[in-house]
Amino acid sequence: MPVTAVVDLQFGDGGKGRLIDALAENADLVVRYNGADNAGHTVVVGGEEYKLHLVPSGILWPGTSCLIADGVAINPRTLAKEVVGLETQGIDTSQLKISGAAQIIMPYHVLRDQVEEDLLGHGAIGTTKRGVGPAYADRAARKGLRVWDLIDEVRLIRSVDRVIPDEQAALEILEQVRQDTEVFRGRVVDGRRLIWQALDKKQNVLFEGAQGAFLDIDQGTYPFVTSSHSTAGGVCLVGIGPHDIDEIIGVTKAYTTRVGNGPFPGKLEGAEGELLRQAGKEFGTTTGRARDCGWFDIPMVRTAVKLNSADCIVITKLDVLDDFETIKVVDSYMCDGVEIDYVPSDTVQYTRCQPVYREFYGWRTSTREARSWDGLPTAARSYVSYLQTALGGIPIKAISVGPERGQIIWLS
Ligand code: IMP
Repeated sequence: MPVTAVVDLQFGDGGKGRLIDALAENADLVVRYNGADNAGHTVVVGGEEYKLHLVPSGILWPGTSCLIADGVAINPRTLAKEVVGLETQGIDTSQLKISGAAQIIMPYHVLRDQVEEDLLGHGAIGTTKRGVGPAYADRAARKGLRVWDLIDEVRLIRSVDRVIPDEQAALEILEQVRQDTEVFRGRVVDGRRLIWQALDKKQNVLFEGAQGAFLDIDQGTYPFVTSSHSTAGGVCLVGIGPHDIDEIIGVTKAYTTRVGNGPFPGKLEGAEGELLRQAGKEFGTTTGRARDCGWFDIPMVRTAVKLNSADCIVITKLDVLDDFETIKVVDSYMCDGVEIDYVPSDTVQYTRCQPVYREFYGWRTSTREARSWDGLPTAARSYVSYLQTALGGIPIKAISVGPERGQIIWLS
């Protein structure tokens, strides 16, 4: 595993956290490269659940270093809370480093996100209201604060004065932010240099993406997207180039979920969707919102494989389908009278796409104890083989059959 990137091929929530946790045992450095505390990665170890938002999922392995890198936007308050929470659960976080060039989510970004969403009414994006959009907007407008600015009192005062002309308001913000900067003490590094050093030493480096391909600011279902680059291209924004990445692993659930608004052609209304939601416990890690559910969407994942140039895929939560008598997949879309096998880049056109389904017999038996391909029921193997063929024969690296460490079938 020299240099590996793990990305989600759907709308996020595919189980990247538990895969990173599995791979991190052999990693020297795990780097989170995009997003903010809008993300929620759940890892279960020995029955204990760890919910991670900003901290890389490698933190649970004592010998593995972790870096929150430049492409991430950090809310110091939630990061502080997360670090304290992990320490309370007995996790040593001393190996967590934070890049000085990461952006800061300020209290006014969170307020702006909430107000803007409320004003949009029915047209709302359905954001997590964590201030993500406004923070990245300020970055692009060159008004953002970076960790470097936060840990230097003079720079902090100048930066806040620049964006908040009202003296009293600026003082209040400064007071709030100062308390929160404690979490950075002793952890701030030149992130890209840390990564270069690991690459020069030929160490195993794992890049952890947040959200999913169709939430990418450019390649997702714009404007119903997040504000960072969640595809593999985002990895290159932390100070390295595409040639530095040896392997790109795309994670996809054995079905589809989406939280927030925006097109989702295979979204199941009514009882069928509710069954999937309950079986998969599809409620947001960050906001607790019920996720919309649908069957596996082949055109979507096929498109995401291209968007990420994924070398292989990992299929997660296969066990969620264990009790279904019939399992469907979205085989293609009918769009304006034409059958298509990809996601169009025009979001409005995508909202007009209708799913064309194919049906499979369910296996109606537990896959949770399976640890090899041959240990899976025949119908489950047929289902997975169909997906693989439909995705152009892409190698399947692993299949997860439960939330616990070890409930994974490694295939290659
Ligand atoms: P924001 O990132 O909070 O601005 O939200 C923009 C869109 O991305 C909304 O539809 C959110 O529900 C979605 N989103 C953001 N983070 C995640 C995530 O980690 N998993 C799934 N959806 C997410």
